[in-house]
Amino acid sequence: MSAAAQGGSGLELLVIGGGGREHALAWTLARSPRVARVHVAPGNAGTAREPGLSNLPLTGHDELAAFCRQTGIAFVVVGPEAPLAAGIVDDFRAAGISVFGPDRAAAQLEASKDFAKSFMQRHGIPTAAHRTFTDAESAHAYVRERGAPIVVKADGLAAGKGVVVAESTADAHAAIDMMLTEGGMGSAGARVVIEDCLVGEEASFIALVDGEHVLALASSQDHKRLQDGDRGPNTGGMGAYSPAPVVTEALHQRILDQVIRPVVTGMQSDGLRYTGFLYAGLMIGPDGELNTLEFNCRMGDPETQPILMRLRSDLATVIEAALAGRLDTVSLDWDPRPAVGVVLASHGYPASPRTGDAIHGLPPDGNAITPDCHVFHAGTRADDGTVLTSGGRVLCVTALGTDVRAARANAYGAVGGITFDGRQFRTDIAHRALDRAPTNGDEP
Ligand code: AMP
Ligand code: GLY
Repeated sequence: MSAAAQGGSGLELLVIGGGGREHALAWTLARSPRVARVHVAPGNAGTAREPGLSNLPLTGHDELAAFCRQTGIAFVVVGPEAPLAAGIVDDFRAAGISVFGPDRAAAQLEASKDFAKSFMQRHGIPTAAHRTFTDAESAHAYVRERGAPIVVKADGLAAGKGVVVAESTADAHAAIDMMLTEGGMGSAGARVVIEDCLVGEEASFIALVDGEHVLALASSQDHKRLQDGDRGPNTGGMGAYSPAPVVTEALHQRILDQVIRPVVTGMQSDGLRYTGFLYAGLMIGPDGELNTLEFNCRMGDPETQPILMRLRSDLATVIEAALAGRLDTVSLDWDPRPAVGVVLASHGYPASPRTGDAIHGLPPDGNAITPDCHVFHAGTRADDGTVLTSGGRVLCVTALGTDVRAARANAYGAVGGITFDGRQFRTDIAHRALDRAPTNGDEP
């Protein structure tokens, strides 16, 4: 029973952000018996109706810091990348507030692809060969030299839309013109990274880092394309599941040794200190070759939803250990059952999402459909008792099951009852796990 339910005095925490990842983070933190309330800034219609959570309509660092001091917030968890890149951790630390996340300097690992690529090269972290350009002519010449397929990436933050995997040199040249000549990605595309195209299966690997030690979360895999069969445009993620059978125990160790720990020691030798969640987007080649596609300095969305659905440990206590630099003293306990999360997106997503559609069929109280199936909100807002869509990704219906097939059936069973005009979702989330022999969750 939570401290809130007991009516006792417990910790008050703050989660920054308002997406599905933040809903899942706050919901998980609120399950701690030591936590009285989790404030979510700004939150969404789902966090507003979640027991133990409260929305806080603030975004400015100074006003948030003032709230933390007045309320006695024990610690802050930052969900999305934008505030991290904008230095929210630096500002909170300067105000004496305990906050879990990388500072602005360390967050460049996600905020600049060029920084990330040079960092990986410098510290021997496996990744595709690349060059960085600000001049379109030199970029075109490099594409002529390397040929296709080839990948063109905007250097800066682009909400998952800054990467063009070009099947032909014509597509690569067009992407270069769009970013460098026409300014189609704004300042994020004023510099581009061009890298070799990798083949294989992608996996997400997320760990907590305390500056010194790392603690891996359960593995996961998301589905970036809009449509079934991995077709259509790239999105922020249309669904995810955990664990990802592609990440075997041996691969898990290699990822820690070759990718995650070198980030921590590399930061130290560059005079930086990485604390917070560290997300590596990986490509596992057909022969088991391991390469890093990208780093994110936060948890993944929607990977967080199925991962945290499986977490049995007290996340508040784990983050406290991280803030004390003592991640080496804790371990994580996982529900062995797999979890599958299916994203419901709005009409027109990802190009031009429509908002303001009424959502029907949500649970009347809170967001639990059953103890093993939860509706995490993202782009939603409450309007006079009705919940309306307010963004591209709207909900992530996440369920546990005895195996992947059952988890998927549970999630889709609940998806069927939740409707809104223009609703889009994939019907094949977790197909890669099903294509492999289901592991029944015997890997973390
Ligand atoms: P990123 O934001 O760098 O992870 O890129 C977004 C997506 O583009 C990845 O999830 C991959 O599907 C794809 N991608 C990125 N880099 C490469 C690469 N070097 N080779 C093949 N696909 C890539
Ligand atoms: N789902 C991919 C990400 O959060 O970056």
